[in-house]
Amino acid sequence: MTHSSHGFDQINPPSRLLMGPGPINADPRVLRAMSAALVGQYDPAMTACMNETMALYREVFRTDNEQTFLVDGTSRAGIEAALMSLVEPGDRVLVPVFGRFGHLLCEIAERCGAEVHTIEAQWGQVFTPEQVEAAILAVRPQVLAVVQGDTSTTMCQPLADLGEICRRHDVLLYCDATASLGGNDFELDAWGLDVVTAGLQKCLAGPSGSAPISISPRAVAVIDGRKHIEAGIRTDDDEERGARIASNYFDLAMIMDYWGEKRLNHHTEATTMLYGARECARLLVQEGLPSAVERHRLHGAAMLAGVQGLGLEVFGDVTHKMNNVVAVVIPDGVDGDGARAAMLDDFGIEIGTSFGPLHGKVWRIGTMGYNARKDAVLVTLAALEQVLRAGGAPVTAGGGVGAAQEVYA
Ligand SMILES: Cc1ncc(COP(=O)(O)O)c(C=O)c1O
Repeated sequence: MTHSSHGFDQINPPSRLLMGPGPINADPRVLRAMSAALVGQYDPAMTACMNETMALYREVFRTDNEQTFLVDGTSRAGIEAALMSLVEPGDRVLVPVFGRFGHLLCEIAERCGAEVHTIEAQWGQVFTPEQVEAAILAVRPQVLAVVQGDTSTTMCQPLADLGEICRRHDVLLYCDATASLGGNDFELDAWGLDVVTAGLQKCLAGPSGSAPISISPRAVAVIDGRKHIEAGIRTDDDEERGARIASNYFDLAMIMDYWGEKRLNHHTEATTMLYGARECARLLVQEGLPSAVERHRLHGAAMLAGVQGLGLEVFGDVTHKMNNVVAVVIPDGVDGDGARAAMLDDFGIEIGTSFGPLHGKVWRIGTMGYNARKDAVLVTLAALEQVLRAGGAPVTAGGGVGAAQEVYA
């Protein structure tokens, strides 16, 4: 067989404004950082970049945790690393489920061999601290695993009281902050969280493919208690402790040694993603975390007012909505997928579909990361008005852009 280019063109994607629940358009500065030259795995420039990235993510997570670094892979790589490394087969894990990503935590914890217990909230609602504490008392779990912002329902679970409850009952608290970090209040140390993971493709304004993680000293002690360094790099001084973590790639005990002073060889760090993740955090820290949250609050409020101004209904308890995404009830008689296709084809704007019980019932519209901007909000609302009208929905002329402008005024 002869080699040929098959006539394929260079990658040249269409211009899109990504206003769904993530991924969103990456900040051009992040993409520029990702085109920087590669260096070797132990080049001082590389290890310095890793250390800077750790320092930046301590600020993003609002923590002093030494163990703050990146897991290579998308956000669920961070979740798997956290749960694989914390949970031993037979451990009890409690998951308050208020959307699709709570189910994902259950699914991953089950694969870790955990005995998984759940409490469930109706989609569109969140839990009170009392409900969570009652479940902890009933289940006596080793780990409470909770999502902060569940993009499937747009809800943001309040976390401020959960750390204290978990410490009182000697439970480790894991949180998936993929969809919420950077756009909603988040205080790792003040809220007493033990392990938190995230991703870049939402409020952090990057592409997916890197999962920032931060681990409290008491969780580090648990994970280090399961350390089995792999053969070939193990020395006679390295004792093997506890139940070995079932995944090599997601073994946080070994990954901590790779990011730490030992620089013990593990995977080959994904240099280009490291550059991107570093730039995402650098931009957020430069802006200031409180300002970034306020920016998401403002543009999220403008989008919410805009869709309501068009006469559309919003799904769920809006007092607990994440700043960065809104679920809009598809009006009767409008073809939800057809309208999304028209947004894409006619305007180059992507809005999101939804999963499970909400599929076909709501669209999800995001205002996050690089797209938490006034022009992105107004253009999306203007396009949505046209698409709804073409679909036969009775919309208030100019009502979307007008209501959003009032929020900005
Ligand atoms: C809350 C939450 N957790 C986890 C994920 C999974 O992330 P990824 O697709 O990057 O693995 C997502 C993605 O939408 C999410 O919103």
